[in-house]
Amino acid sequence: MTSFSTDWLSLREGADHRSRDPVLQGQVLRYLEKISNLKNDPIHIVDLGSGTGSNLRALAPLIHHNQKWTLIDYDPLLLKAAREKICVWADSIADRTHNNHLDNDVNGLVTLVKNNYEITVQFLQKDLASKLQSELFESADLITAAAFFDLVALDWLVQFCRALKTSLYTVLTYNGEETWLPSDPRDTEILEAFHHHQGSDKGFGNALGPSAFKAMEQLLKKEGFQVETGSSPWILTRNDTSLIQELAAGTAKAVAETHLVSHEIAKQWGEQRAKSQYCEIGHDDLFAIYKKNSI
Ligand SMILES: C[S@@+](CC[C@H](N)C(=O)[O-])C[C@H]1O[C@@H](n2cnc3c(N)ncnc32)[C@H](O)[C@@H]1O
Repeated sequence: MTSFSTDWLSLREGADHRSRDPVLQGQVLRYLEKISNLKNDPIHIVDLGSGTGSNLRALAPLIHHNQKWTLIDYDPLLLKAAREKICVWADSIADRTHNNHLDNDVNGLVTLVKNNYEITVQFLQKDLASKLQSELFESADLITAAAFFDLVALDWLVQFCRALKTSLYTVLTYNGEETWLPSDPRDTEILEAFHHHQGSDKGFGNALGPSAFKAMEQLLKKEGFQVETGSSPWILTRNDTSLIQELAAGTAKAVAETHLVSHEIAKQWGEQRAKSQYCEIGHDDLFAIYKKNSI
């Protein structure tokens, strides 16, 4: 299993939020508005691999309807951090909040009220790799995920797309395209080795890594979904120094682990890239509308 630190997820949150494709996000919001006009209950959104809740913080304030969110992650520490961060965030944006939390209970709800809309958040610790629990999704109006699908394996993705019976909105799936400036003669071999690392087992079997997005798009079309896509590259500049430094160090470490590039070259590249003042990291977003809910 691969674990992600709360520090890394916090560091990337600003870049993640500003990089999401706004046109596609607008389509998702119109879709949710249409759904909300057809029901009195809150809209139910399930976030896969939710980490500390960044996806909720990006999307929930844009939805003008009561909402119920289910955040699913296998990492109890990230779910605990998610609760804490959502409470702090809610205190800063909401008119009222209620944290129904007993010590050591990761499952208690958080509820906040903003402009008369209620947002209820529940936290579920589940390993999505162990068995695809489609019952988790049954009551959902939308399944969403951020920076998650590049971790999964092809077999898992095939099963997931087959089992999916609701619309899906995924953001920030890594697509393998990277530009670092100024260019460096080692960039190509480093990127190849990094892609090799991205394809290693992240808990689901060999990960699709940079090929996940295209595979997902094709599989969902085959299942009859109406699929719309957009791009969400990180464009990092001198205002993102800490993120660039962590990214360079993380890439160099991953590359060294593959043994496709010498430890020394990976280290030198990482040190050089930590000083970069511009880089683009390619990601893609996807909105797949379930045929019964077409808009
Ligand atoms: C790159 S992080 C993204 C987190 C969050 N969506 C965000 O945008 O900040 C990937 C997340 O997927 C979760 N994850 C990975 N494998 C998982 C699995 N098998 N079951 C549930 N969650 C998983 C990790 O714990 C982590 O929170």
